Order: sequence, then structure tokens, then C-alpha cells
Amino acid sequence: MDKRIIVALDFNSAEQALKLLDKLDPSLCRVKIGKELFTACGPQLVKKVAAHGFEVFLDLKFHDIPNTVSKAVKVAGDLGVWMLNVHASGGLPMMEQARAALGEFGKERPRLIAVTVLTSLAEDDLRQIGIESSPEEQVSKLAFLAREAGLDGVVCSAAETRLLRAQLPDDFCLVTPGIRRAEDATGDQKRILGPAEAVRCGSNYLVVGRPITQAESPNEVLEEFNLAIAGVS
Ligand code: C5P
Repeated sequence: MDKRIIVALDFNSAEQALKLLDKLDPSLCRVKIGKELFTACGPQLVKKVAAHGFEVFLDLKFHDIPNTVSKAVKVAGDLGVWMLNVHASGGLPMMEQARAALGEFGKERPRLIAVTVLTSLAEDDLRQIGIESSPEEQVSKLAFLAREAGLDGVVCSAAETRLLRAQLPDDFCLVTPGIRRAEDATGDQKRILGPAEAVRCGSNYLVVGRPITQAESPNEVLEEFNLAIAGVS
């Protein structure tokens, strides 16, 4: 089956992450390792998670000079990750070199996606850092730049998915966090989408954290998410 749910392993210890993985079926999901878990446990844990049969989205959002980012991307590729990301605001040359660094991995290379505008930034915050465009315009501008650099897609919020899908080609993948079923607590997420709704809006992969990681039976909830999007396109 096409594994469209990416479970966010938002933990600060390997023990917690591996405990959850023991409860999840790797044929039903992929997993995301972000800055907290990676900073706590490092590349050894990425390898361990992969050894458990899970495909890993390494969510480290690289943003630096092109030389540094491309080398970091290559090292992440050596770890065997399935997907990784960079900040599109690092610029076209940075993204192009990051993409080029994955060339040697051939057809099975990790997918490389971009973060456009952090969803924590509103119009005023952008103005403070010298960006006069609205968040929507900036998201769209950076998504097109990522496409131009040969990247495979972008992370986008629930609110941006429909617009980006309308603007960008079908093979440009959209990865969307902020996914909740009606019965889930929203937590700190402000704009949320239901799983089927997100897929209908054009999202290819759904990042789901707490509704699954904090559940009493995580694999059952994962199966419910998969059921909710089965046959939806
Ligand atoms: O627990 P929850 O489902 O809210 O987790 C969502 C995951 O997606 C977290 O790892 C969070 O950092 C990430 N994310 C997000 N919103 C963004 C980008 C990433 O929630 N705009």
C-alpha cells in the first residue's frame, strides 16, 4: 500500500521513540525524526529506526551556505533516509546544490523537499525580517523556487495545500502537518484539516504526531487514519 501517513516522533529520548515503534506496523506508515529527537540521539537512532523497517523523513530543515548544506544532505543520504528537507529561503543555489548532492544515490535517492514560510510567522513577522510579501505570496514564490531547483516538493500547512496544488504540477509533492480527526484534540495547532480533507485538497503525505503518538493503541489509530484516506485522491 501507498504509505501516506508520516508519524512524527516528537520525543527527546531513543527509549520513548523505540517504544512507540514497537507498537507501529512499518508497512502502514513512515516516520519523521525532527530536531529534538535528532539532537538528543543523533544518527545512530536514525539507523536504528531504519533497521526496524521504517522509512525516515529527516526533518532537520537545513539552512546554510550551499557547500555546507549539500554536504549535510549527502551525509543524510548515506544514513539511508527516505526524505529530508531544507529551507527554501536559503536560496536557489543552495537548493540546487542540495539536490545535486543526491544525484549519486540514483533512482532510489532520498526525496528532497523544502520548507517555505514557517507557519509560526504572520505578515508582521515577515515585515520585521524585511519581507514585504504576504505569507501566501511568499509561500507560493518559494515553492516555485524549490520546483525550479529540482526539489520534489514542499512542506505546507493545511491552509496552503489547496492553493499550492492548484499552482504546481501533480508530481510536486505536498507534505502537510496539522492533521486531526474530529475526535482528536487540536493541541497547539491553529488551522487543522481532517485526513481525507487534506488528501482531497491535494496533499500527498500527512504528518501526524500526537493523535497517534499519545494514543493508548497507536497502531489502531494509525489504521483509522489509513482507513479515512483509503481510496481518497
Ligand atoms: O502532534 P502534531 O500532529 O501536531 O505534530 C505535527 C508535527 O508536524 C510536529 O512534528 C510539528 O513540528 C510538525 N510541523 C507542524 N507545523 C508546521 C511544520 C511542521 O506541526 N508548519
